[in-house]
Amino acid sequence: MAARGLRIRDPNPGDEAAWRRLWSGYLIFYKVDVPEAVTAETWSRVLDPDIPMFCRLAEQEGTITGFTISTLHPSTWTSDLNCYLEDLFVDPAARGHGVGRALIDDLITLARKKGWSRLYWHTNAGNETARKLYDSYTQADDFVRYRITFD
Ligand SMILES: CC(C)(COP(=O)(O)OP(=O)(O)OC[C@H]1O[C@@H](n2cnc3c(N)ncnc32)[C@H](O)[C@@H]1OP(=O)(O)O)[C@@H](O)C(=O)NCCC(=O)NCCS
Repeated sequence: MAARGLRIRDPNPGDEAAWRRLWSGYLIFYKVDVPEAVTAETWSRVLDPDIPMFCRLAEQEGTITGFTISTLHPSTWTSDLNCYLEDLFVDPAARGHGVGRALIDDLITLARKKGWSRLYWHTNAGNETARKLYDSYTQADDFVRYRITFD
């Protein structure tokens, strides 16, 4: 179902409080604790046109109800840029009305318009709600992720 009055747009500095409210919910969803300095840095990065990380906000009748954060990077396998969708979150109060789908559709539209060659993302194998949405776009591949963390 399409959400009424929904539009997807770039953020501006005045959106910080609204974004932070959703970001906090996203961190709780993932049960992670991201230091305040990193949250502040992420917000500043998505507003910086010289950094290839960008945010898109879902706005509905003046309320920010969801966001994506993605990073563009070159690839050895394609000439054009690849877009990695790192974060997707919709306010629990706004779920089930097409906001998540609209945020992904927005990235697909941007990819086509700007000539990026791939849009990709990871999710937990058990995130059934998100996977229902994702499966409607494409099949998951069989790659697994290895990650070494340096503190
Ligand atoms: C996953 C998430 C972004 C979906 O957002 P949403 O706005 O509720 O999604 P939509 O309303 O656009 O629903 C899209 C599809 O997802 C599926 N879906 C959404 N909510 C569902 C639910 N509660 N149960 C089952 N399927 C569901 C449906 O297949 C729906 O298909 P439809 O468009 O044919 O109705 C949202 O639930 C969320 O933020 N979850 C917590 C964070 C998260 O998991 N992020 C993704 C991490 S990779």
